[in-house]
Amino acid sequence: MTTTNRKILVTSALPYANGAIHLGHLVEYIQTDIWVRFQKRRGHQCYYVCADDAHGTPIMLRAQLENISPEQLIARVYQEHRADFADFAIGFDNYHSTHSPENKLFATQIYQGLKASNQILRRTIRQAYDPVKQMFLPDRFIRGECPRCGVKDQYGDNCEACGATYAPTELKNPVSAVSGATPIEKESEHLFVDLANFEPMLREWTGSGALQHEVQHKLNEWFETGLQAWDISRDAPYFGFEIPEETLKYFYVWLDAPIGYIASFKNFCDKQQLDFDEFWKSDSQTELYHFIGKDIMYFHTLFWPALLTGGGFRKPTAVFVHGFLTVNGHKMSKSRGTFINARTYLNHLNPEYLRYYFAAKLGAGVEDVDLNLDDFVNRVNADLVGKVVNIASRCAGFITKRFHGQLAATLANPALYQEFIAKGELIAASYEMREYSKAVRDIMALADLANQYIDECKPWVLAKQEGKEAELQAVCSQGLNLFRVLLGYLAPILPVMAQTVENFLNATLPWQPEPLLSHTINPFQPLMQRVDKTQVEAMIADSTAGLANTTTPVAEKPTTPVAETPTVVQATKAAKLKPVVATTKSAVTSDAAVATITYDDFAKIDLRIAKIVNAEAVEGAEKLLRLTLEIGEAQPRTVFAGIKEAYSPEQLLGRLTVMVANLAPRKMRFGLSEGMVLAAGPGNTEIFLLQPDEGAKPGMKVK
Ligand code: 2FM
Ligand code: ZN
Repeated sequence: MTTTNRKILVTSALPYANGAIHLGHLVEYIQTDIWVRFQKRRGHQCYYVCADDAHGTPIMLRAQLENISPEQLIARVYQEHRADFADFAIGFDNYHSTHSPENKLFATQIYQGLKASNQILRRTIRQAYDPVKQMFLPDRFIRGECPRCGVKDQYGDNCEACGATYAPTELKNPVSAVSGATPIEKESEHLFVDLANFEPMLREWTGSGALQHEVQHKLNEWFETGLQAWDISRDAPYFGFEIPEETLKYFYVWLDAPIGYIASFKNFCDKQQLDFDEFWKSDSQTELYHFIGKDIMYFHTLFWPALLTGGGFRKPTAVFVHGFLTVNGHKMSKSRGTFINARTYLNHLNPEYLRYYFAAKLGAGVEDVDLNLDDFVNRVNADLVGKVVNIASRCAGFITKRFHGQLAATLANPALYQEFIAKGELIAASYEMREYSKAVRDIMALADLANQYIDECKPWVLAKQEGKEAELQAVCSQGLNLFRVLLGYLAPILPVMAQTVENFLNATLPWQPEPLLSHTINPFQPLMQRVDKTQVEAMIADSTAGLANTTTPVAEKPTTPVAETPTVVQATKAAKLKPVVATTKSAVTSDAAVATITYDDFAKIDLRIAKIVNAEAVEGAEKLLRLTLEIGEAQPRTVFAGIKEAYSPEQLLGRLTVMVANLAPRKMRFGLSEGMVLAAGPGNTEIFLLQPDEGAKPGMKVK
C-alpha cells in the first residue's frame, strides 16, 4: 500500500433530473462514497464530484406534463437529489448540473476539437416522427404491439413480456407515447462522431489495465463487431445545448452528460482555487476514476475516451463498473413494493443500515447485488448492534460511572491491541480494491475477538467484586480502545456513527491509532437502534402505495438499469371500458344482458380490496390463473380467474384489485374458487383488472 500522497478525482454517474433517487442508484453512490472516504482517511487528496444530468427529451416532456419550464423542473429535482444524497451521507465535494455555463463551454470545446480534426460526419437518417407534436421520437417514446408475442403497449426497442429486441419500425400498430398519434417516418441530417478512427487509441487504453477483465472482454466483442459512428445530434424541439454553426440542432444528452464530470470539477476548482489542468490535462500526477453501472459501459469505455481525446483531455485511470440491484432476488418492482425511493427508505430506516448492508455485499466485480430484506434485518442487528455497538455499550457505563470517564493509564492486553492494528493494512487493501465485503468480514472477525475478550474478562462481575477496581478500569479501557480501532476501519462505511463515536470518545479515529490512555471520554450515547422487521414492512407498504403517483423514469438509452415499467393498468384507463367480471367459469364476457337490481341487491355484494399475493398458471387450463388474494382475513382466498391471456403471473404479484368476497364458493376441476376479481374490457388479451387508488389497503370494503 502506497503511503505517498495521491491526487485523486472520483465521479459517480450523473442521475437524470426527472426522477427520484432510488435504492438502485444508491448502490453506486454508496460504493463510491465509501471509496472516497477511505482515500481521504488514508491522507490522500481525493475529490468526489457529480451533477444532475439535466438534458434530453424525457426532461423536456416531463416539464411540459407538469406545465413548468425544464429549468424549473431541473431546479426542483436538483434540490430533491441533494437532500437525498445528504441524508445518505454521500459526501460530494461538488454537486453541479449539466445545464451549466461550464458544461456548455466544455461541450462546445470538445465538439469543436472533434470537428477540427475531421471526426464529425454528416448523415441523413430516417426516424419516427410525431406529426401532431411535430417532433422526432426516441425509441422509448413509441409504443405498440410486440412483433414477436403480440403483447400490447411495448416500448419501441424491446418487449417486456417476451424479451424480444427490435427496431421501432417493427412494432405493430405503433403510437407516439407523447400524443397518441401514429408516427410517420421522416428524414433529417444528423452529426456523428466517427468512432472507428479512435479504435487504435481505444485498444491501447482498454489494454492498459483501466478496466475490469469482464468489461475488457465485452469491449473486445465490440471491437470485433466493428465500431459504429455515434449520433451526437438531435433536432429541435429538444432541451439541451444548441450545436454551434447549425440550425435547430442540439447536442444529444449523452454527449454532454459525461462532460458534466469535467464541468462539475471546474466549478469546484473555481470556488476552491484548485488547479483544474493538473487533473484533466495530464495523467502524470493525478488519477481519475469513474464509478458506473454496467448498463452505461459503452458510453464510458468507447465514446467517453474518444470525446476526451477529441477535446485534448486526459483519459480515465480506470472505470469501475458495478452490477444492478435486485431486491429479494428479483428486479426491483413497483408492484411488489421493492422499487424503493431513497426518501421512502429514509422515512422508515437509518441510512447507515443500508450503507453497511451494501458494503457487506459489494465486491469489485460486475455481479448484481441482492438486497434480501430478511437478511438485511438480521445482518444489521447481528453485526452492527449485536457485535460492534455492543462492545462500547458493555464498557462505557463503567468508565463513566466508576472512573469519572477516565481510561486506564496502560493497556490490559497490548498484544490484542496490536493484533487489531496489524489488520489495518489488509483491510485497507480490501477497500482500495473495492472488495468491501472482504473488509467487512475482516472487521467483524475483529469485533468477535473484542467481544470474546470482554466475555472472558467479565467486567460486570469485576464491578461487583471488591478490590477489582483497577482491573475493571483496565478491561473496559481495553474494550473501548479496541472499539476505537474498529470504528476507524468502519468509518468509510458508517461516517455518521463514526462522528458520534468521535464525540463520545472525545478523540479522532485515525486508521491505526495509538491507544487512548489516561484519557477522559464523554458519557455514552446510544449509537444505533435494532432494526425491526415492521419498519421494513412499512417501507414496502409505502412503496406499493406510492404506485399511483410514480412516473416511470424514461431514460434515453436502450435499457433502464433497474427500473421496471409499471405493469399496472390505472383505474382511469379501465373505467372507460365497460365493466365486466372476470369469472371463474370462462374468459371475460363483455356483453352480458344487464338486468336492473335494487339497492338491497347491491348491498348484498361484499366488494373488497384484495392484494394478489400469488398468481400462477393452472395446469390444463388455457385461460385461467390461480390467484391467492389477501383480503384482511386470517386465510387468503383462492380465486380462479380467466385472465391468463391478458396477464402473466409475475405482472400481478403484489398488486391490489377488487374482489367479490361473498360469492358462494364454486368447485371447479382445478380446485375451489372462493370469489371473483373485477376487471373491464372485451376479453382475451384485453382485460383490465380494476385497481384502487393509492391508500387502499387489503380487506377494505368497496362501497
Ligand atoms: O444512465 C444514467 O442515469 C445517466 N444519467 C448517466 C450519465 S453518467 C455520465 F455520463 F454523465
Ligand atoms: Zn413480446
